[in-house]
Amino acid sequence: MKIGFIGAGKVGCSLGKYFCEHNLDVIGYYSKNPESAIHAAEFTDTMYFKDIESIIEASDTLFLTVPDGAIKDVWDYIQNLSFKNKIICHCSGSLSSAVFSKIDIHQSYGYSIHPLFAISDKLNSYKNLSGAFFTLEGSKECLQKMQTLIRSLGNTVQVISSENKHLYHSAAVFVSNFMVALTQIGIDLMVKCGFDENDALLSLKPLIVENIQNIVKQGTVESLTGPVERYDLETITNHLNSLSEKERQLYILLSEELLSIAKKKNPDRNYDELKIMLGE
Ligand SMILES: NC(=O)c1ccc[n+]([C@@H]2O[C@H](COP(=O)([O-])OP(=O)(O)OC[C@H]3O[C@@H](n4cnc5c(N)ncnc54)[C@H](OP(=O)(O)O)[C@@H]3O)[C@@H](O)[C@H]2O)c1
Repeated sequence: MKIGFIGAGKVGCSLGKYFCEHNLDVIGYYSKNPESAIHAAEFTDTMYFKDIESIIEASDTLFLTVPDGAIKDVWDYIQNLSFKNKIICHCSGSLSSAVFSKIDIHQSYGYSIHPLFAISDKLNSYKNLSGAFFTLEGSKECLQKMQTLIRSLGNTVQVISSENKHLYHSAAVFVSNFMVALTQIGIDLMVKCGFDENDALLSLKPLIVENIQNIVKQGTVESLTGPVERYDLETITNHLNSLSEKERQLYILLSEELLSIAKKKNPDRNYDELKIMLGE
């Protein structure tokens, strides 16, 4: 397999270096800005390609590691070229391989291969990629081959359907981006209580860290504590009365979710009154 990268950003550099470290045959990089491709080629000890045509000719497998919004444009350019028998991949969590429209005209196969991982550093993130979980979706012809490729790196890979890509990517947003939003709400409430921003985050840190560690170690059900789980109606009423309308709405929606977890944790406890209260 001769692997070429179009897009020498964070993911292109990190995946390329990671592949090289596992003795995969990375041939090199093309990028919009030649400087980026030259730098990535030096970083991975591979070649710099000055145009898309030459990297396509030299590769049998191409990773389009460009921003999501550029994948279709790059593909539209590529699909007007003459080539066949290539594997074309992108790394978007949200887009599916359907973006590679009419790929079968080229007797080629399209995949989305998504590392479920925050890749923030062009030069260093590759060192942590062994901990990444990958999802894979695309044409059935080389699906097995691509699974084997990822497993050969020592990573876990799960095949998902193209219809579920948006749903799948929403899951990632819930556990990562929304955690950031929830933390900010917590900080803002602490600031209203007289804390400055730094002290607010510092004071909440043990709760945040311990909670995440518990969830990862023992799952959501066993990690749940707090007034919903304890069925403490008075405390919940006091919370709701102290919050702004937007915070109340969020509190109620999230408490409904907590309620279904609490029922799993305490199947013999009757939560009906709380359910009615949140509904109202
Ligand atoms: N970063 C993450 O945590 C992460 C995790 C999983 C998946 N992904 C996915 O990986 C893909 C790449 O993301 P990224 O974080 O690596 O983005 P990035 O750091 O912005 O890198 C994208 C690179 O693509 C190049 N590029 C842009 N338009 C191009 C074009 N038309 N032709 C050729 N090259 C072009 C740019 O290169 P120049 O420097 O040459 O302008 C840029 O360096 C996206 O699909 C993203 O959703 C990202």
